[in-house]
Amino acid sequence: MTQDETMISVRNIGKRFGSVVAVEDACFDIRRGEFFSLLGASGSGKTTVLRIMAGFEAATSGAIFIDGRQMDAVPPHQRPVNMVFQNYAIFPHLNVADNIGFGLRKLKLDPVERRRRIDEMLELIKLPGFGDRLADQLSGGQRQRVALARALVLQPKVLLLDEPLGALDKQLREQMQVELRALQRSIGVTFVLVTHDQEEALTLSDRIAVMADGRVLQVDTPAGLYERPCSRQVAGFVGNMNFLPARVVSQDGGSARIDVPGLQTTCSISAERLARFGSDISLAIRPERMTLHRERPADQANSVSGVLHDRMYLGERTQFQVALDDRGTTIAVSSSTTVAERLGSIDPGAQVWLSWSEEALIPLGND
Ligand SMILES: Nc1ncnc2c1ncn2[C@@H]1O[C@H](COP(=O)(O)OP(=O)(O)OP(=O)(O)O)[C@@H](O)[C@H]1O
Ligand SMILES: [Mg+2]
Repeated sequence: MTQDETMISVRNIGKRFGSVVAVEDACFDIRRGEFFSLLGASGSGKTTVLRIMAGFEAATSGAIFIDGRQMDAVPPHQRPVNMVFQNYAIFPHLNVADNIGFGLRKLKLDPVERRRRIDEMLELIKLPGFGDRLADQLSGGQRQRVALARALVLQPKVLLLDEPLGALDKQLREQMQVELRALQRSIGVTFVLVTHDQEEALTLSDRIAVMADGRVLQVDTPAGLYERPCSRQVAGFVGNMNFLPARVVSQDGGSARIDVPGLQTTCSISAERLARFGSDISLAIRPERMTLHRERPADQANSVSGVLHDRMYLGERTQFQVALDDRGTTIAVSSSTTVAERLGSIDPGAQVWLSWSEEALIPLGND
């Protein structure tokens, strides 16, 4: 990414609170106009990184550049960013228009221009005509939209959003996700979203930084994280994944032979993908990358038999648990329910077959 394309550059940021290491050596760039998410479990350091970007917290080490300018000595109100907090932070005693216009007071705009900007925001958040409504007469979703408008009316280059949809119920949250994405596309402002909800991150983001224990584990597109996770931790955090112990048995030039006892097979994988690992590795495979059969599939190069343990109907998809051996190795297989129905009823205890393509196997270190 060239310097012109970069909106935020996080350079080796560390943050300690006394003896607690909240963030350690975080290093990544966010592009102009990008929808970027920080994804991680509770306590992984997401809010701390966001607060350092906003200037509410000073980093213990490292530096942050926003729009090419180093931010260390720049106070929050002079940074080209604005932040939306999880708990809405809108004033219940003010009406919607005054809430949105709150930050404009400092700019000393004439009343006509002020009104114009507020109306523009009301249109943007699809609440035209709501200006006079008191904030505590709004639904949760409407309040959240007002909080967004209040941050956007100041025309920041970057909008920082800390779990902005966390307090909404599932249905409203999904609806707001669609709106948030559409809003970001239409105004082109760089969004940095903090979330612990992997589905939310995958749905909304151009790219995601996965965090754990204060460290950034991987920065990638949603598809990149899903298809090419760099570690077991990332693979387990994003979507469902099966892990099988495996061993590198030989290396020949660019390719390595790997023994996978669970699948009773060996496979070859480019040595480049194994470079960082020792000989004991894990092979990861997504449940939907395996296919279930009633009979041995004659036309598949890779297949193994097992015993069906459980079948779970999940609506659009059906998930099967299959025991691969008598040592307790089980594997999850997921297929669309339409496909699963074509197999007819299979009872737990029945012998089944699984097949997969070699590209579906992801080698990972045992970290
Ligand atoms: N002001 C503080 N003083 C001491 N420790 C802090 C402070 N703020 C955060 N921490 C610690 O730093 C770590 C990271 O906290 P942070 O709030 O960044 O996590 P998070 O990823 O946002 O979590 P959550 O999803 O629960 O909001 C945690 O262990 C937290 O307890
Ligand atoms: Mg947080």
